Amino acid sequence: MSPPTHHFDFVVIGSGIAGLSFALKVASRFRVAIVTKRWAAESNTNYAQGGIAAVTGADDSVELHVRDTLSAGAGLCREAVVRQILKEGPARVAELIELGMRFTEEEEESPDGERHFDLGREGGHSRRRILHAKDATGREIERALLATVAAQPNIRVFEEHFAIDFITTRKLGQTGPNRCAGVYVLDKATGRVETFASRAILLATGGCGKVYLYTTNPDVATGDGVAMAYRAGARVANMEFVQFHPTCLYHPKAKSFLVTEAVRGEGGVLRSVEGTEFMEQHHPLKSLAPRDVVARAIDSEMKRTGAAHVLLDITHKPARFIIDRFPNIYQTCLKFGLDITKEPIPVVPAAHYQCGGVMATVDGETDIAGLLAVGEVSCTGLHGANRLASNSLLEGLVCAHLAAEKIIAAPPEFCDLAMPDWQLGKAQNADELVVVSHNWDEIRRTMWDYVGIVRTTKRLERAQKRIANLQEEIQQYYWDFVVTSDLLELRNIATVAELIVASALQRPESRGLHHNLDFSKPDQSWAQRDTILTRVA
Ligand code: FUM
Repeated sequence: MSPPTHHFDFVVIGSGIAGLSFALKVASRFRVAIVTKRWAAESNTNYAQGGIAAVTGADDSVELHVRDTLSAGAGLCREAVVRQILKEGPARVAELIELGMRFTEEEEESPDGERHFDLGREGGHSRRRILHAKDATGREIERALLATVAAQPNIRVFEEHFAIDFITTRKLGQTGPNRCAGVYVLDKATGRVETFASRAILLATGGCGKVYLYTTNPDVATGDGVAMAYRAGARVANMEFVQFHPTCLYHPKAKSFLVTEAVRGEGGVLRSVEGTEFMEQHHPLKSLAPRDVVARAIDSEMKRTGAAHVLLDITHKPARFIIDRFPNIYQTCLKFGLDITKEPIPVVPAAHYQCGGVMATVDGETDIAGLLAVGEVSCTGLHGANRLASNSLLEGLVCAHLAAEKIIAAPPEFCDLAMPDWQLGKAQNADELVVVSHNWDEIRRTMWDYVGIVRTTKRLERAQKRIANLQEEIQQYYWDFVVTSDLLELRNIATVAELIVASALQRPESRGLHHNLDFSKPDQSWAQRDTILTRVA
């Protein structure tokens, strides 16, 4: 029996803030499938601690938010995009609150008798402007959006379904402009590959932290969307700008646990293992400097002392305040035997955010008609060479709205070409899974060692050679064996690793998150120049 073909007006791949927001908007008029490779809440959004940056404070303005974003972006942001997204932010946040999102409020009423939101501060922000739900903002966003999705009869969520590749007119042998007609999706429970046909597909798969050995991201962050779009022929830009979050918990049993920058926003300071504050030598904003500066400073401090971590100290604040403001971090650290009200937290930088991605407009349009990209998977020009903290949930929310508005106004027709079932060919069940696990580890270690916070051309070239060899082996394996989610993730991290290295080698300067010791300064001729990669068909 051949696997089913589904028809939905829109298919959304990914169930974080961007995918869910878009689905809810278009579902007022259209039928939507949300395809997500684990359970619905499991997304990068779910693990966001800090919050959403948006102008709501009396002392704040869109102009100031724009200035901070451009300054963090180190000359590579698109100013018009920055302005549009940040201006639209407060209205979209208000809509999220109407849907049921509960942001933390100040404990006391203000003199005007109103209760205002408790605004957090993070690196690079000149004002307190981060709306948060204590220190588990993403979890609360997912709760609010998924509760609304559950009540929407036009949306069907396909959990444990892994999107493999787009079905494009080019792949169907057509000439002329490339258009996306559908997508092949692995149903992990049955092992069958199903076909989804739609008017358009929204890619909202988030980032690629798992390309690196150490990351704050959950296991799902394997760069699937970038890899799929690249394979389909879309342009991918600025992949060298991988943001390393300065403070991931360092503990042998803790996996990928972020310690939000808001801890530093509330007065936490970074110290060497000897107890010395070291950020003042690096930036006037000290521990609250932009992330690229802090991550590099920690890296250099770890190299100087030979220690495996630095310390983040907030013990000078009252215990009650720490427990109330950071309950998630407090409880998690306690489980590992660490009382953060009494001892500093051992932390290390870890891969956190992909600032580049599939080239897209603010309303999600990519090079391929019928394929939209929104959120971390996309590169709109908001983040430039270094994302300002907490601007990403905002981008997902705003761009999903703009994409939905545009597509509702002019929905494309279904493509009338016949879509072939997934071809199994001569694929067999894999005999030795050690190939997958070995290559997985090797890619992630290579990226960590050679394509990390501080790079050199020699290390990048070394990484490029290794990844090319691994790619060859993975391709062979991919065609010989039946697809599994582990194999698909391996193929995707290999592609994304290749793109990050190729982009880094294309940029002969240091800017924002890309720091190459062989070109240690920004080069004016590279300001405003994106590194763009397209697959040669
Ligand atoms: O530190 C944090 O809570 C992270 C925020 C962000 O990446 O935007």
